[in-house]
Amino acid sequence: MTLRIDYTNMMGDVVKGGVAAADWQGASQRFAAAHAGFGKRRDAGELGFLTLGANAQLHKQSTDFAARVAGKFDDIIVLGIGGSALGPIALRTALLEPQWNSLTDKERGGRPRMHVLDNVDPRTIAALLGRLNLQRSLFVVTSKSGGTAETMSQYLVISERLQQGVGKSANEHFVFVTDPQNGALRALARSEGVAAVDIPANVGGRYSVLTPVGILPAALLGMDTNALLTGADALAARCTSAELAKNPAGIFGTLQYLADTTLGRHIQVLMPYSDPLRDIADWFVQLWAESLGKHRTEGDAGIGPTPLAALGATDQHSKVQLFMEGPPDKTVTFISVNEVAHDVTIPKMHADVKELGYLGGHTLGELLSIEQRATAGALARRGRPNMTIHIDRVDAEHLGALFMLLEIATIYAGELYGVNPLNQPGVELGKQFAYAMLGRPDADQARREWNLLPKPEARYSV
Ligand code: PA5
Repeated sequence: MTLRIDYTNMMGDVVKGGVAAADWQGASQRFAAAHAGFGKRRDAGELGFLTLGANAQLHKQSTDFAARVAGKFDDIIVLGIGGSALGPIALRTALLEPQWNSLTDKERGGRPRMHVLDNVDPRTIAALLGRLNLQRSLFVVTSKSGGTAETMSQYLVISERLQQGVGKSANEHFVFVTDPQNGALRALARSEGVAAVDIPANVGGRYSVLTPVGILPAALLGMDTNALLTGADALAARCTSAELAKNPAGIFGTLQYLADTTLGRHIQVLMPYSDPLRDIADWFVQLWAESLGKHRTEGDAGIGPTPLAALGATDQHSKVQLFMEGPPDKTVTFISVNEVAHDVTIPKMHADVKELGYLGGHTLGELLSIEQRATAGALARRGRPNMTIHIDRVDAEHLGALFMLLEIATIYAGELYGVNPLNQPGVELGKQFAYAMLGRPDADQARREWNLLPKPEARYSV
């Protein structure tokens, strides 16, 4: 596994508008303190995502379940939201063939199709339910808390459909992925006798992709779960140094932090030049946003960078104009893949047509890579700081490493900002208001607050 970060274009002595040399030097000590804070959290057992590779028993829960149901299901449907969905989506896009669900059984090698329902829009759910053969469908209900309204609603809808469609065996079409002890889903697993696998108590939603949240669907789809965990472990082993220059996650987290706080570069773009990695950018957006967008002290204005996902080369014809000439409030991190699978040579045709002739003989992979370098160079030339994460190829090992890099970097960034990267108090109030409107019995306080809010006025409505 090779993962290398080139941050030349972030540095002020190379790129006008980059991080000043003095700030970078000053950051060494700051990072050492952040690393110590990270160590305290790890020693207190808060960073369970770091040691998943060593938890053979947990890994086995997923592989055993997958082996037990092998051949029984044609469709695997993950029900989940936020951290319980974005990891499985990123894995699906990266490690399954494009258009996987449209391939024939033979083309899929007998492996199931995979769907992730990460919203409660009835249109999507009704459409999928209308197409599924319930007899051959397995629903993976994923919720760390075991009580998230969206996921529980999906569960209830599907539970009723299964009872109507397959009768007594309905529960055999479910597996729950949830906290080992707590929450309604765990209690239901016990009372209804539904199979369940664990999300360790010390791993929160957005850090859970390498728990059974991602590993169970991966095992069901025949992905190399060992390689995912090995790649993550290898990257974690590279992030043990308190010396900034030797710690890749430290470099990513510290540079983004400095860009935000010293250069006003509040928007941080992750832009893979790779279709298989497009959803890792969305996964990162949630990780970075929900972990770092916080109040440091109650009632302050709030801090935190704004992550943004982009895709190369597609977004060269969309967002890149803004990155080049819009407000200088962004950094761009590219992910570049050295070896692309199934490269395609561009044929030498129309040699006499200026716009076509020069392309012949190159490959599409080469074009993608050249365009990434060209965009990075152009941004640098315009004084727009950027960096590139290079990986050898998109496979399970490199993907595990990428997840781990960005998870560790997020904890470092939390330490640098002085916020807790493991909680998400800001999403609670909206949830409470929704509970109040839906009539959940324990939402009285929220109901009172809701009733005090200004109501829509006709004069402000057109
Ligand atoms: O990262 C997080 O903690 C959240 O985004 C959760 O993943 C999300 O709210 C879903 O929660 P749960 O897995 O408890 O259903």
